[in-house]
Amino acid sequence: MFVLVNLKTYPCDPIEVAEAVRDVDETTDARLAVAPEATHIERVAETGAETWAQHVDPIEHGSNTGHALAESVADAGAVGTLINHSERRLKLADIDGAVRAAERADLETVVCANNPAQIGAAAALGPDAVAVEPPELIGTGTPVSQADPDVVEDAVDAAANVDDEVSVLCGAGISTGDDVVAAGDLGAEGVLLASGVAKADDPKAALEDLVEPL
Ligand code: G3P
Repeated sequence: MFVLVNLKTYPCDPIEVAEAVRDVDETTDARLAVAPEATHIERVAETGAETWAQHVDPIEHGSNTGHALAESVADAGAVGTLINHSERRLKLADIDGAVRAAERADLETVVCANNPAQIGAAAALGPDAVAVEPPELIGTGTPVSQADPDVVEDAVDAAANVDDEVSVLCGAGISTGDDVVAAGDLGAEGVLLASGVAKADDPKAALEDLVEPL
């Protein structure tokens, strides 16, 4: 299972979380990665933790102001990027452009979507993975795998119907090892989570709990 921890703009210490991600990754067969704010990517990557960006823009080098350029994110040490997170929505053409920009910079891609229909559309753009996250469950602590298992199974089917090379993650409310196991049982190859680690008093203990049953 892939466990991708999105730190959003939570006021956690990104280095503490990254070191925990790095250390816990070494104890498990699961793959752990962390997506800090753009300005923290370089320092986080220096810890040795697998580091992702939260977003890249559909642009190239040139006259763009206030954007995230895929090449710069990669130069800073990111190996992958989220695209179209629920809190950073893009238009369809821009999702396509962002996936192409990430490919150009050799970044792995996870395109997020709200529901199975959007997952099918996202999978058609050829990312490495898609992530289904019902927005109403984000940050609630109620896991999508429990509150809405059908949305995960339907997302897995929707992606497979378009391109069975695209893996499917799920997210929203995931905070325990049981949630991760349930996601896997529904066909997801990984989870995308934030508050369960970023808001934990002890992020390392939270990560250990997440991977314990894997
Ligand atoms: O990117 C992960 C996310 O949106 C889920 O957030 O806090 O419900 O784990 P959370």
